[in-house]
Amino acid sequence: METVLSGIRPTGNLHLGNYFGAVKNFLRMQQEYNCYFFIADYHSLTTHPTPADLHGGVKQIFAEYLACGLDPEKATIYIQSDLPEVAELYLLLSMNAYVGELERTVTFKEKIKKQPDNINAGLLTYPVLQAADIIIHKATKVPVGKDQEQHVEMARKFANRFNHMYKVDYFPEPHPFNFGDNLVKIPGLDGSGKMGKSEGNGIYLYDEPSAIKKKIMRAVTDSGPTEPNQEVAEPIKNLFTIMEQVSAPDTLQYFKEKYASCEIRYGDLKKQLVEDVTKFTTPIRERINEIKSDESYLTKVAQMGAEKARESARKTIKEVREIIGFKPF
Ligand code: TRP
Repeated sequence: METVLSGIRPTGNLHLGNYFGAVKNFLRMQQEYNCYFFIADYHSLTTHPTPADLHGGVKQIFAEYLACGLDPEKATIYIQSDLPEVAELYLLLSMNAYVGELERTVTFKEKIKKQPDNINAGLLTYPVLQAADIIIHKATKVPVGKDQEQHVEMARKFANRFNHMYKVDYFPEPHPFNFGDNLVKIPGLDGSGKMGKSEGNGIYLYDEPSAIKKKIMRAVTDSGPTEPNQEVAEPIKNLFTIMEQVSAPDTLQYFKEKYASCEIRYGDLKKQLVEDVTKFTTPIRERINEIKSDESYLTKVAQMGAEKARESARKTIKEVREIIGFKPF
């Protein structure tokens, strides 16, 4: 069975866009593949979080993914820093990663513009660490968005370079992976574009009902249809897209018909959406809070994941050390 691996940034919270995109994909993948999902906390040090923020961020996102249904019995779910083997592979790979190619990485060029006072070496070698994450479990499928494709390409290059350098056929090639057309893009509530953290237009899974109400009631609309059966304007289409995910099919149908006959009242549409989004997120929000307050459960899940992940990582490191020529006397 092929191995799927993905790293999760421990910053921010999950919004509906994440839920119907990446999270749903993870939930399907864990049924079909040998999956590794981990929280990339080593990587997050490139932005110098405080210890409290680092710990809080890891715990929050860990609880959120578990609350969404990531299953520690099906997938190996772990925290990157529980795997010192990753740091060792990163060191070994960094000897065959060239400064020039690292400097040309798009994300590096963007990052140094964003944080000119903190251009640390970890930023430069970020893709090397990511390659170590991926190939330590010999993963071949890496579910990532467009912005991460170059990193997967670099992981592939480093894996192939290692194989050539030592004349072995050891690391398989990792490739970007997604379910393509099945990926639902959830728009933001500001009329256009997708829901995103940086766009500040998101409905978060942990949002209280009052926050959900405020956000949806404020969503951009237009002055309404003027002719029967006219094409649905983008901001309204966006509300329908969200409705399609959280509401009953006949509810959506009802509002589409009202739009087509020019009888729609956006206030009613929004009220319905508030109700259905709240109904959808409430059990998840409650579960997030339940998991967060259950330290012993979190510890158990993290330990279980670390054990499974280390078993695979230890094997790779042992073999890699031998291939490179580190041999016991
Ligand atoms: N760089 C990824 C991001 O910013 C996170 C990540 C770290 C990752 N290691 C990975 C993703 C390995 C896929 C595979 O989202």
